[in-house]
Amino acid sequence: MASLSVEQEPLELYTPSAEVKESAFIKDRAKVTEQARKDLEAFWAEAASEYEWFSPWEKVLDDSNKPFYQWFVGGKVNIVDNCLDRHVRTWRRNKLAIIWEGENGEVRTFSYHALNREVCMFANILRSMGVHKGDRVTIYMGRIPELPIAMLACAKIGAVHSVVYGGFSVEALHGRLEDSQSNVVITCDGGRMNGKLVELKKIADEAIRRAGSVEHVIVVRHTGQEVAMEAGRDYWYHDLMALPIAKSAAGSSRCETEVMDAEDPLFMLYTSGTTGKPKAIVHTHGGYMVGVGTTLKWVFDLRDEDRWWCTADPGWITGHSYIVYGPLLLGATSFMYEGAPTYPYPNRWWSMIEKYGINILYTAPTAIRGLMRFGEAWPNRHDLSSLRLLGTVGEPINPEAWRWYHRVIGKGRSPIMDTWWQTETGMFMITPMPETPLKPGSGTIPFPGIEADVYDETGKPVAPGEEGYLVLKTPWPAMLRTIYKDPDRYVQQYWSRFPGVYFTGDSARKDADGYFWIIGRVDDVIKVSGYRLGTAEIESALVSHPAVAEAAAIGLPHEIKGNAIHAFVILRAGIEPSEQLISDLKAHVVHEMGPIANPERIEIVTSLPKTRSGKIMRRVLKARAQGLPEGDLSTLEE
Ligand code: WTA
Repeated sequence: MASLSVEQEPLELYTPSAEVKESAFIKDRAKVTEQARKDLEAFWAEAASEYEWFSPWEKVLDDSNKPFYQWFVGGKVNIVDNCLDRHVRTWRRNKLAIIWEGENGEVRTFSYHALNREVCMFANILRSMGVHKGDRVTIYMGRIPELPIAMLACAKIGAVHSVVYGGFSVEALHGRLEDSQSNVVITCDGGRMNGKLVELKKIADEAIRRAGSVEHVIVVRHTGQEVAMEAGRDYWYHDLMALPIAKSAAGSSRCETEVMDAEDPLFMLYTSGTTGKPKAIVHTHGGYMVGVGTTLKWVFDLRDEDRWWCTADPGWITGHSYIVYGPLLLGATSFMYEGAPTYPYPNRWWSMIEKYGINILYTAPTAIRGLMRFGEAWPNRHDLSSLRLLGTVGEPINPEAWRWYHRVIGKGRSPIMDTWWQTETGMFMITPMPETPLKPGSGTIPFPGIEADVYDETGKPVAPGEEGYLVLKTPWPAMLRTIYKDPDRYVQQYWSRFPGVYFTGDSARKDADGYFWIIGRVDDVIKVSGYRLGTAEIESALVSHPAVAEAAAIGLPHEIKGNAIHAFVILRAGIEPSEQLISDLKAHVVHEMGPIANPERIEIVTSLPKTRSGKIMRRVLKARAQGLPEGDLSTLEE
């Protein structure tokens, strides 16, 4: 793996202003880190005591059955009790929880009271439909308020939500439905993206037809577009919410919050891994809550008077942790936007920051690079002085984009929190805090309580500046507990490469100051515009086309997207290659997987580099495509 070139480390260091430092929630990171190092359990117990527990835990960390760690063992809790119930008993009941703007300019707001009411009513509906504690419910929606409402309603009654990103398409949804065996699907008629209507219900129908396990479909009317409703299976959300059963017998919208064990599953979220189909990562009520709430508070210094905007989609982990659960845990006001950043003009985001007075913006490098292209004039037309802190996530940020973000959007005042973490980690792991001196392109150092390192092939720490595998050496409360239905794969994939430590799948280096620099994935995961895709899913979408015999997908560097998908296909005998066929194949991948998986380029080939056991050597394809040395070819059989 030494073949990857590493960007020259920039010499600049950005130290936070006295003002930022003084107002930060954590003023002495080193001290807090030291405390956590001395007594990890006491550290997390203190963090957990910020939340409401129905009954306290008996043990903070149970590591008697590694790597199946358990946190806050014996504690009774429900994350929704902490996101909603707790706040509506205080003055926050009248505080805005969610401000939402549709791509067409429509605005909807929910106070904590209003959000809680809607969640309670929907939870009553789900219960009356026979959804019980532990049942899986699939949510497939656009970026609308009913998406967090549906997630919270499931969690409130102890059902396990499985959100499938609304940008995914038929086969991606089908695979996730089938694996989770959900009986209930919550979706919407359609979404708005880039001035166009997305046919979500139609995609859901096709996926449900392939899956077969679904009994009920609840459909939110959002765009008002024409959709087919199947009698006895499909119900309109607004019809259900108007039923008397949405309310309790006393006519109130009350709904009892289920008492959960700290270790009971809260949600599962499918993500791409090393080989094969996406796997569902399982997170819990107790530990996830503590990890997400603590990291958001400490890293983004989120205060009651703040307006927070995380631009991610709720369908990915960033949205789960930092649009839905984190901000609500802190009783914050969160802004959500439905559509494309450049619709109708490239100032859309900047105009909304001004309009709503956003204080903290958390986004992805790909968005920054995309908006940077349109020049400074667009953001400069708007008053962005409300911004106090900025953040980024999803892929390494190139120093050029970092500097633009810092100078043009943050006016040189707002530090950038470059947060490294994963679906699996649930919460920020390597991240600055407002007081941390910053180096553009580095996520800086591990969060208190987290020990990270960079290992060589043999599991030894590498020297400073050298590239290796990023590992995590201590358990943390928001860690994944397992892979749904596949505990062996959990052990195999994360805990076997280097026994006893968590393997991230990323390569990185650590500099002389102990700052971490993420380089990229070392497995078959491709990060396209910050979205995590697996080569296997793209390849299986390609081979499901009748013209394709074999396919291989790789990621190659792309100026805006970070990586773009390049695919190589072998056609079936008798099929003639043509430009038309290539565009048909691209359309087929989009139909099966969704627009984010659209290959940048498809090349028709007559053979693929394989090992003697028949595994495609994507590493070789990648090196060839980039004109780089092909490395060790001793196992190649072409
Ligand atoms: C990458 C997203 C560099 C990394 C929260 C990781 C990053 C994968 C950063 C997880 C960052 C995430 N700098 N790379 N700040 N944040 N990554 O599961 O490769 O969608 O392993 O979670 O994104 O992607 P996932």
